[in-house]
Amino acid sequence: MRDAGVFALLASMVLVAGCAIPGRFYLVAPAISGTLTGDGMPREGARLLLRIQHRESPTLYHLGEVSPSPAGGFSFEATQLVIAGQEFSKFYRAYLQLQIGAEQRIIWRAEFSRRELGGEIRLECDLERPSRHGQPCWVADPLTHPWLVSGGLRTYRRLCASCHGLDGSGEGAAVASVGGPPPDLRLIASRRAGRFDRVEISEWIEGRSLPAEHGTRDMPVWGERLSVDYERYTDRDALIGVTLDSVVVYLESLQEDDDAILGPP
Ligand code: HEC
Repeated sequence: MRDAGVFALLASMVLVAGCAIPGRFYLVAPAISGTLTGDGMPREGARLLLRIQHRESPTLYHLGEVSPSPAGGFSFEATQLVIAGQEFSKFYRAYLQLQIGAEQRIIWRAEFSRRELGGEIRLECDLERPSRHGQPCWVADPLTHPWLVSGGLRTYRRLCASCHGLDGSGEGAAVASVGGPPPDLRLIASRRAGRFDRVEISEWIEGRSLPAEHGTRDMPVWGERLSVDYERYTDRDALIGVTLDSVVVYLESLQEDDDAILGPP
């Protein structure tokens, strides 16, 4: 009994010491800059808030605020946080929120892995971009950002590789269930005369709103599946957008002929 008491005391001392470990600085978000167009932007009084949130420790976050410049540009400084022992996080969520008067709207969400962060992130936000998924901002040159490509790879392995194969060749184990090999995902651009249209590809994968004349398809409608996955979140369509954006970037990274994606000079 006495031993248990001593143990409890020791354990709580270790815990207190753990909390008191002096924090270390970590880069949690690189500099983020971008442009904001469409729907009358830039507009008088428009503000952008960037919230970087620890995924494992939601009370810890960083908030940055800027006003879009008259030319429509905006930029946030790189963000460092002091991380105390308990609050260490491997993943961060970024939310970019546009405020005009009383109106608020999240226009970009992303999930970073701290270890994969690279250089500055440039965003191109077109408020008229089909934004069914709450993601009117694209990351410019996405293939240069490891966090985005590997986020897509994680989703791909989980949802897509069973049919399309780990390498996209179409030789996944579940191929028999769809009556034959699905198309080679490394040749999406080649099949379209070198064009890789992110909106078209993400709409196809999402699938919920494809017009009936596209006919029946063997591939599951991922919008439905992800919608169930995210059911408990109020912003589930936007979370679907995060998943789709990164998986589409991953598919873009698989394209065999880089020159084909860029198109003729
Ligand atoms: C159950 C098997 C299966 C799974 C799982 C699957 N697909 Fe497919 N996919 C197919 C089949 C089959 C096709 C061919 C079109 C059709 O008939 O549906 C296809 C077509 C595609 C195409 C169109 C290629 C082109 O050039 O037109 C893309 C893009 C695609 N899949 C991406 C994905 C992604 C991303 C995932 C995971 C989120 C995924 N697929 C999961 C079976 C699957």
